[in-house]
Amino acid sequence: MKPIITSFGSLVLVVAIASAFELNQFEQLDAAKKSADKRIVIKNLVVPAGKMLDLTNLQQGTVIEFEGRLTFGYQEWDGTMIRIKGKNIRVVGKPGNLLDGEGHRWWDKKGGNGGKKKPRFIEVNLEDSLVTGLNIKNPPRHCFVANYCKNVRIEFVNIDINVDIKDGDKKGAGHNTDGIGCGGSSNVTISNCKVHNQDDCFAIGSGRDIVFENNVCTGGHGISIGSMGKGKVVERLIVRNCVVIKNTNGVRIKSRKGETGLVKDVTFENIELQGVTQYGIIIHGNYPDNGPKSEPTPFPIENLTINNVHGTVGRGAANILVWVTPGSAKNWKWNSNITGGKRRLSCKGVPSGINMPCGKI
Ligand SMILES: *[C@@H]1O[C@H](CO)[C@@H](O)[C@H](O)[C@H]1NC(C)=O
Ligand SMILES: *[C@@H]1O[C@H](CO)[C@@H](O)[C@H](O)[C@H]1NC(C)=O
Ligand SMILES: *[C@@H]1O[C@H](CO)[C@@H](O)[C@H](O)[C@H]1NC(C)=O
Repeated sequence: MKPIITSFGSLVLVVAIASAFELNQFEQLDAAKKSADKRIVIKNLVVPAGKMLDLTNLQQGTVIEFEGRLTFGYQEWDGTMIRIKGKNIRVVGKPGNLLDGEGHRWWDKKGGNGGKKKPRFIEVNLEDSLVTGLNIKNPPRHCFVANYCKNVRIEFVNIDINVDIKDGDKKGAGHNTDGIGCGGSSNVTISNCKVHNQDDCFAIGSGRDIVFENNVCTGGHGISIGSMGKGKVVERLIVRNCVVIKNTNGVRIKSRKGETGLVKDVTFENIELQGVTQYGIIIHGNYPDNGPKSEPTPFPIENLTINNVHGTVGRGAANILVWVTPGSAKNWKWNSNITGGKRRLSCKGVPSGINMPCGKI
């Protein structure tokens, strides 16, 4: 706040106005971060090709607002297009904001596996912070990751990797466009987001005390724990009140063959599936294979609750597949009602005493 003092004769008015650093030229980035205002309005900024919009080293208490359309020059590179790091930060999308990756310039159906080098879009490393209201369109590949975050809320983020004819879905060109990822974080809540994409809607590979709630996933590969491995741990994760529409999977837990780690205290609750195409729920220990192709290897999945996961999958899909090493699954509770799939697969490693309609159509 800067006081503005205006005098009219003997009358003195003191008006406090919130001042901000308006960032619309990339060259001003360093100055913006040092500005005493601690409020950066990123307005219709064009980030030069191959450069990162580097919002690290922010002053504590900084507010970042996105206004208008943010765009990027085109270059093949391996980096991250936007990185935001700091403590007590608020990242706010103003009405009508658009963070536009124009990913179609990179898309070649190969994602991160080859072809053109494609940058990731956004990584946040935040503590005691809020991210709200961002509209994100067409990242070249992985869209938004919250890594090493603590006490963070991410809400009302709208990820749309689809809309017009040259976009991801239509040509099948967008690939590895994971929506929201989370790794090494604790106490992070992701809520009221929409993700339309061509890979995992939400993926978590490690972390604790994570909530993913009231989100809608369309077009992608489902809500996913994993691929687990390398000794990583996911514990105390709650996924609830979400809708998964036309994804390949509804809910998935996967661990890589021969690798170790732990998934513990996880609840999937009130999840509605609509027209899922491959597996309503899949839990398997032999990634990158899917299910019965090969033997799973031991990987503990303990205290898992599936409660009211319901809805429909396509005829060619399996309603449920569990394919884990016997003994790996402990203390599961199961209440699901998934219908429509005619692919009948037998399960492996389901803990005894739970009533799971595995292998049934
Ligand atoms: C978790 O993070 C939220 C901010 O998103 C904070 O309000 C809350 O106090 C944190 N909880 C704990 C136990 O630190
Ligand atoms: C099981 O996990 C849930 C979280 O999903 C947690 O609330 C509960 O305390 C855990 N139960 C045990 C016995 O660890
Ligand atoms: C399961 O879902 C189907 C429709 O998807 C519904 O007709 C049926 O009543 C449900 N069963 C239970 C036990 O809720």
